[in-house]
Amino acid sequence: MILEATMRHSTLRQLEVFEAIARLGSFTRAAEELHLTQPTVSMQIKKLTDAVGLPLCEQVGKKMYLTDAGRALQGFTHELLDHFERFEMTLADLKGLKQGRLKIAVVTTAKYFAPRLLGPFWQQYPGIEVSLKVANREHVLERLAANEDDLYILGRPPEDLDIVAEAFLENPLVVLAPARHPLVGEQKITLERVAQEPFLVREQGSGTRAALERIFADRGLRLNVRMELGSNEAIKQAIVGGLGLSVLSRHTLTLDAPMGQFAILDVEGFPIVRHWFVVYPAGKRLSVVTSTFLDYLKEAPRYAAELPCHWG
Ligand code: PGA
Repeated sequence: MILEATMRHSTLRQLEVFEAIARLGSFTRAAEELHLTQPTVSMQIKKLTDAVGLPLCEQVGKKMYLTDAGRALQGFTHELLDHFERFEMTLADLKGLKQGRLKIAVVTTAKYFAPRLLGPFWQQYPGIEVSLKVANREHVLERLAANEDDLYILGRPPEDLDIVAEAFLENPLVVLAPARHPLVGEQKITLERVAQEPFLVREQGSGTRAALERIFADRGLRLNVRMELGSNEAIKQAIVGGLGLSVLSRHTLTLDAPMGQFAILDVEGFPIVRHWFVVYPAGKRLSVVTSTFLDYLKEAPRYAAELPCHWG
């Protein structure tokens, strides 16, 4: 009971800091995520440890582990934050759409259109606080599995998670080459011919990369990878630099792309039209704000004319 009595002096903020450390396994990453300095994070954890009266984590080599007390507190913190979130949701629902929060996580390639789609929504409901997390497919799926956000936008719904997925916008994949490449201007180029060229691919865990690998595998072709790059921007720069070809979403061709320096090749079967999906865990209770945003997304094709996919 002593534990309970002293724990009551801990603040919700300290528990939030602890939850982030326990989940991310690092003080530095927790500080980054919470936009706090590392000394502040350490101070909050010290106060919490004093209140608990037992160490919460220990450092072995470079890794951080939770102690038994830390693990027990992690379970308790989850429940508490969950209750708190549900209460906030009830309040937001009672207040209607005047206020509330919307947490969305999107794959890297969706960052070219997701913020633009948010614009008209936010103009309609300016009291809603929207946070947009951008990460590659693998990380977005981790967040989905851990139920960290309200909604997720990605290029292909995962098959191994119990989710609801709705397609809301086309996602055309195109073959890009430098403007002076010999294949530019040719018509109906075969995939076999394209496969002879060196390719630039995104990092492991990228949905774009997985799609490209699948296209080649389906035709029994080997992908001649010259270089792996960690972002769509880096790939576009490398294409302009003449390092190879790539397959990217046409959404990546925003106005700030080096237009005129690369071209879309006329390859048989391309553009491959995939879709963007909005996804959430099956059985999740959606807040009024979240369901309103979902309805709004279904209107997304109406806004598509303003999106970069129409460029090129
Ligand atoms: P990526 O995902 O940005 O991780 O490549 C794109 C997609 O899922 O289509």
